[in-house]
Amino acid sequence: MIYGVIGNPIEHSLSPVMHNAAFRHLGMDCAYHAFRVTLEDVADAILGAKALGFGGLNVTIPLKEGALEIVNADPLVKEIGAVNTIDFKNGINGYNTDGIGAKRALEEHDINVKGKRVLLMGAGGAARAIAFQLAHDGAGLIIANRTASRAVKLAQDVRRVGDAIGTDMDDLATLVKKVDILINTTSVGMHPDMDKTLVTADMMRPGMVVFDIVYNPIETRLLKEGRRAGALAIDGVNMLVQQGAESFKIWTGQEAPVKVMEDAVRCALKR
Ligand code: ATR
Repeated sequence: MIYGVIGNPIEHSLSPVMHNAAFRHLGMDCAYHAFRVTLEDVADAILGAKALGFGGLNVTIPLKEGALEIVNADPLVKEIGAVNTIDFKNGINGYNTDGIGAKRALEEHDINVKGKRVLLMGAGGAARAIAFQLAHDGAGLIIANRTASRAVKLAQDVRRVGDAIGTDMDDLATLVKKVDILINTTSVGMHPDMDKTLVTADMMRPGMVVFDIVYNPIETRLLKEGRRAGALAIDGVNMLVQQGAESFKIWTGQEAPVKVMEDAVRCALKR
């Protein structure tokens, strides 16, 4: 069976390394490839993959919203407004595993978000998926975004399932003080701007959790600042692997070998 990821650009995707390691480990006769697809061609690409007998697809930037048009989407995917996983078993079914990936990454560190106060930085596609998941799981969310209107809109949508307020990023120091968990979903700190961070050690405190979904570099400046403040730092590799593991399970019905996938991703990132 063939699987793949579609997006643009796609050559740096770690999904092939991760899923092929899983298939190899389980002795499955499957292969996973990356395909560069433009937004204009997204529908043709998905229908083509279905026609060729693919098992499923991951969908990444900038196609996550466009792909929604031609998949059967469950209500959560419609709320999020983005699809990252397509399964071809019974039609063309769309899922979003980003939120559950973030939840599982926190769980791997024994963190349950129920009743916790969370500051989510960013209001883009990844933030939407994470916000719906965490609010659904009983977290109290503050969503802060450079463009405040996006955060306010996301919080308004999320309040259908849980507790959220949206605001700007003008006073992150005050917001960080109010929360147990800080999550960065913005691209700040990502390669090549590795010296950038929205929050520094002096704004954090021991025992809090700081989770950066950026995984390139693995140890972002934000995580370094967090460790310096005595916070528990969680890197983006966990979420990448866990969202992939959820896709794997949707496609194959099998539990994914998470450790094998994580080792493959960390090894590829070190190269
Ligand atoms: P993704 O799908 O990865 O979430 P996205 O939808 O493009 O990507 O969202 C990027 C997020 O990073 C947005 O919240 C963006 O803020 P704006 O909505 O104001 O654009 C945020 N972001 C990007 N660069 C930023 C910067 N220099 N400072 C603060 N936030 C930034």
